[in-house]
Amino acid sequence: MNELKIETIIRIYPTINDLDDAAKELMQKAQAVLPEAYAPYSHFNVGAALRLNNGKVVTGTNQENASFPLGLCAERIAVAAAASLYPNADLTMIAITIKNFNKPTTTPVSPCGTCRQVLLEKENQAQKPIRILLKSEGPEIYEVARVSDLLPLSFAGDIIA
Ligand code: THU
Repeated sequence: MNELKIETIIRIYPTINDLDDAAKELMQKAQAVLPEAYAPYSHFNVGAALRLNNGKVVTGTNQENASFPLGLCAERIAVAAAASLYPNADLTMIAITIKNFNKPTTTPVSPCGTCRQVLLEKENQAQKPIRILLKSEGPEIYEVARVSDLLPLSFAGDIIA
């Protein structure tokens, strides 16, 4: 029997000041939009900021609904906004952070499976890695080099035809 071993490397930065300037600025923008989340049901605010290869930054926050499954994650809101505003631009980096009003949360929070799949589509479109930066209420920041590292054995469009 053969085995396939899948490894993901996560870089850990002690604080936001240990990031390079572009990454630091992006995480600050994700933090800045946290109050704009509409999360009256979960009380869990998520902020996302995307950097595009045209130099623009586009942010998103989670937007919930009384009909719970209709709520949208911050990451997918940001991706859809970026694609609508700048259809020809590629994503190069995403910063994600949270404020949890239910309990203190210090471990960096990573995107849900659906958002990973949506981000993977953008990475495949760009044919370049999208850097992922993750933070929560603690000082530490995790960096994953590319979306495909967060979604091994993923389903991608090239298999279809
Ligand atoms: N949420 C996000 O915005 N992004 C994620 O990757 C995970 C979860 C939101 C959805 C919901 O509004 C709240 O966080 C709690 O699940």
